Amino acid sequence: MPAASHSGSRLLIADDQRDVLEALRLLLKPEGFAVETATSPAGVLDALGLREFDAVLIDLNYTRDTTSGQEGLDLLSRIQSIDSILPVTVMTAWGTVKLAVEAMRRGARDFIQKPWENERLLSVVKTQIDLSNAIRRGMRLEAENRLLRADGVPSLIAESPAMQPVLQMISRVGPSDANVLITGEPGTGKEVVAKTLFAISPRSTKPMVTVNAGGLAEGVFESELFGHVKGAFTDAKADRVGRFELADGGTLFLDEIANVPMNLQAKMLRVLEVGEMERVGSSKTKRVDVRVISATNANLDEEVHSGRFRQDLLFRLNTIEIHLPPLRERREDIPLLAAHFLTTHAQRYRKRIAGFDHSAMQSLLDNPWQGNVRELNHVIERGVLMAQDSQLKPVDLALRSTREGSPRLEDMSIEDVEAFLIKKALARYSGNVSHAASALGLSRSALYRRLQRYGL
Ligand SMILES: Nc1ncnc2c1ncn2[C@@H]1O[C@H](COP(=O)(O)OP(=O)(O)OP(=O)(O)O)[C@@H](O)[C@H]1O
Ligand SMILES: [Mg+2]
Repeated sequence: MPAASHSGSRLLIADDQRDVLEALRLLLKPEGFAVETATSPAGVLDALGLREFDAVLIDLNYTRDTTSGQEGLDLLSRIQSIDSILPVTVMTAWGTVKLAVEAMRRGARDFIQKPWENERLLSVVKTQIDLSNAIRRGMRLEAENRLLRADGVPSLIAESPAMQPVLQMISRVGPSDANVLITGEPGTGKEVVAKTLFAISPRSTKPMVTVNAGGLAEGVFESELFGHVKGAFTDAKADRVGRFELADGGTLFLDEIANVPMNLQAKMLRVLEVGEMERVGSSKTKRVDVRVISATNANLDEEVHSGRFRQDLLFRLNTIEIHLPPLRERREDIPLLAAHFLTTHAQRYRKRIAGFDHSAMQSLLDNPWQGNVRELNHVIERGVLMAQDSQLKPVDLALRSTREGSPRLEDMSIEDVEAFLIKKALARYSGNVSHAASALGLSRSALYRRLQRYGL
């Protein structure tokens, strides 16, 4: 392993003899380690409370004239309870192998006998750091895997004039580190835009961690975002990495940001401003480097005005704001979006459907789409499931038809009209087939046959 790979690794060394510390410092510094020293167990614990280290090297005896090693063994246990992954190597006097064995039994990763051989000491320390890095990486990956969505880059369909400014903005700020706030009605594609921004950013090889502030109970919010240490509260049985830490070096997607409780907004502001935070129950400051993409369908200016959202936090989040227009203001995108969803769902449900018939497309173009792109997606999914034919028909889409509540008859086939009337009659008589049949002038069995034919 080349020495350079350990440069910057933080090492804490403890011994009550200053000349020992000095000798170790002289040995380790040229290897690129950042070395910190302590002369007592208390000094070690203080240092661990303030900073993170990659490895610790401790002597077992601190008070002059003691050789039992008890102080060192106690210290070892304390370190383990603070951070069970931090590798601790103990130094023992020559000839006290029993003590070394006891230390190993208590969780020391290795031991070094004094006087030490430089080569062996260096190699032990490096190995321990490599191991603990690997363990921490593994833990992080595992946590990330649980959080990350499996699907990759989304397709962002946007050909309409109303979407051009959005596309331009995405291509301009995507590759930067700027925080971006995405606004727009529900279902307009805010998450798709967030994923696209991430996918074209230099951080795309690092994780994008998502937090949905709307889906978190107030009580767990802080610990979800910032993590906690064991014992911070009753249920905190073990240390937990928060999402800000998980996203370190990468991107954090804060969805439904307006729901972040007021009492956490200050803590969030601090991470965004100076990149510092503490886990719940810990006073140890951690540094995180996170690009934040946030989204909301609320009007944050109003939230600020009414005192529910901090203005200074809004300023941090909306360095760049991307507003997504509602689908009704970009109807030109409907055919492409519809075709895209049709392909996706037809594949998923293994149905052979080539497209929409003329009147089906017309009804898609006319629909108000209060639920925006998401509603369009759902309508087409349903259509694909209902379709009996190689083309989707208005009856398959079952749109709660146009603005006045009735489809345009001139755009409908006879069958569509028939199915439409049957549905209306059934709705009027709350699904009672006999009543609906007599209202339509059909026998019950004739109505049943038609229900089957139209898949109603
Ligand atoms: N431009 C687009 N191109 C392709 N698919 C889109 C587009 N916009 C939205 N979608 C799809 O529409 C659905 C809703 O999009 P998304 O979840 O991004 O909306 P949102 O704005 O985050 O909604 P909400 O405010 O409810 O969270 C998703 O299935 C998404 O894949
Ligand atoms: Mg969303």
